[in-house]
Amino acid sequence: MAGMGKLRVAVVGAGAAGLCAARHLLARQDLFAPPVLFEITKHVGGTWVYEERVGHYDNGLPIQSSMYRDLRTNIPKEVMSFPDFPFAKHLPSFVHHTEVRKYLEQYCDHFRLWDHIRFDTTVDAVDPVKVKGGWKGLAWDITSSDGVDQSKSTKERFDAVMVCNGHFYDPYIPAIPGLEKYKGMLMHSHDYRSAEPFADKSVVVLGAGLSGLDIAMELANVNAKVILSHGQKPLTCPMPKGVEQAPPVRKVLDDGTLQFQNGEQAEPEVFMLCTGYNFLFPFLNEQVGVRVKEHLVYPLYKFLIPPAYPSLFIVGICRAICPFPHFHVQSQFVISVLDGSFSLPTREDMEEDIELDMAARRARGVATRHILKLDSEQWAYNDHLAQLGGFQPLPRYWANLYESNKVFRARDMLNYKTYNYNILNETEWMVQNLQGQQLQKPQITHI
Ligand SMILES: Cc1cc2nc3c(=O)[nH]c(=O)nc-3n(C[C@H](O)[C@H](O)[C@H](O)COP(=O)(O)OP(=O)(O)OC[C@H]3O[C@@H](n4cnc5c(N)ncnc54)[C@H](O)[C@@H]3O)c2cc1C
Ligand SMILES: NC(=O)c1ccc[n+]([C@@H]2O[C@H](COP(=O)([O-])OP(=O)(O)OC[C@H]3O[C@@H](n4cnc5c(N)ncnc54)[C@H](OP(=O)(O)O)[C@@H]3O)[C@@H](O)[C@H]2O)c1
Ligand SMILES: *[C@@H]1O[C@H](CO)[C@@H](O)[C@H](O)[C@H]1NC(C)=O
Repeated sequence: MAGMGKLRVAVVGAGAAGLCAARHLLARQDLFAPPVLFEITKHVGGTWVYEERVGHYDNGLPIQSSMYRDLRTNIPKEVMSFPDFPFAKHLPSFVHHTEVRKYLEQYCDHFRLWDHIRFDTTVDAVDPVKVKGGWKGLAWDITSSDGVDQSKSTKERFDAVMVCNGHFYDPYIPAIPGLEKYKGMLMHSHDYRSAEPFADKSVVVLGAGLSGLDIAMELANVNAKVILSHGQKPLTCPMPKGVEQAPPVRKVLDDGTLQFQNGEQAEPEVFMLCTGYNFLFPFLNEQVGVRVKEHLVYPLYKFLIPPAYPSLFIVGICRAICPFPHFHVQSQFVISVLDGSFSLPTREDMEEDIELDMAARRARGVATRHILKLDSEQWAYNDHLAQLGGFQPLPRYWANLYESNKVFRARDMLNYKTYNYNILNETEWMVQNLQGQQLQKPQITHI
């Protein structure tokens, strides 16, 4: 570091990940100049900023948030929070989305992030530049604008970039043969806001991820007749009234009828794709070599760093994780890389590490599109980064409580959000149902 000024770090996006990045950069003013957070909208919180409209804002920019009106969190607040900033004590474990937005605003208050955010500013380009004496010989030019008129854009140079642009925005539409022949209302969960418009209607929900399951339950509550079409093993937990399961939709016939993989057919009024989202990095210079294929973003060392451009960090691309603590760990790891407390391997060694990791996952039968789904492996990943970076790992109860919630959800998706959790100490916690009865904790042996 000798001879260099403070590092200037740009953060793309002021959702939970970008805010977390900024919080950790600001904690190290010895090393970093105050970060600059670029944010398209007028708000912090990304996903957690509910917008009743769908499509576009008045200024023509697309509405990115996929939040719907009645959504409650699916992770108890005790482990959903950033580890250094708990949710308010009076709240139940599963909060309404408005509370998460408030929480993220309070995080900004507490860690004094507001002054560092440039609202109404879209990052249009992130370009690497070779700079003698720069961090790893590199710097980054960021071109930004109001997103509407790119002729009035600004270019600024930074030493490093943390990309925190989110990935639940651009609908993934599977290639279903004949889809254009479907005659009813075709929509994606990205544009779902509330159940009332679907009252008493027949709906095929495609995909049983958390969106498919939650939306199927909301639709059942307004007496819709739902077929939940998905490719997983049939769900065995109690289903809401009026929800049936079917295999995936195979194709749409010439007359607009949906045909499932078992040959059965349906002609629903609504075909709701809950098929997930695409990764998009439209601003990232192709030279950086980060590619997206089948829902995999690669090559990234530790799912974060392109080996050839190690001052770029793509935070939060993993799926099936506990997001806020994951961002907390990744951000601290990035700081440990930039402050030199963890020295990155050579480019070749990082590339080999990535290849070995991918090969090991494939050998276990993990499909390419699921490689970024860390699921129960996230805890080992978090601990690994904490160990490499030399910072505090998550408290011990975290993994066990999170995994237990998953077990409760699989057993009883209709009621698990009514439970309330209590942390006793570093290792112990308790859970009660709505009636205040203490529940038996599941045996968690796989982590
Ligand atoms: C329907 C739904 C329900 C969810 N429920 C839960 C839950 O219960 N619990 C949980 O922990 N997680 C939940 N999640 C996951 C959720 O996405 C994460 O909690 C978290 O919000 C992700 O934060 P992020 O910062 O990575 O992305 P986002 O929240 O998407 O934020 C990205 C930000 O970057 C900005 N941005 C994008 N591109 C640019 C650009 N070019 N220039 C400038 N700014 C840009 C966007 O405007 C946005 O503000 C849910 C997600 C969805 C879609
Ligand atoms: N708080 C809440 O209650 C809540 C509610 C909704 C969403 N969320 C969050 O929102 C995020 C996004 O969830 P999501 O459910 O929208 O996306 P997702 O997790 O990517 O799930 C999409 C699902 O669609 C399936 N799918 C895709 N194409 C298909 C096809 N052609 N036929 C059948 N199935 C198909 C996928 O199966 P494969 O994986 O096998 O391809 C996958 O199971 C997650 O982080 C989730 O936790 C939270
Ligand atoms: C945590 O609490 C439990 C139950 O009260 C107790 O048995 C255990 O010793 C405590 N552990 C620690 C680390 O304090």
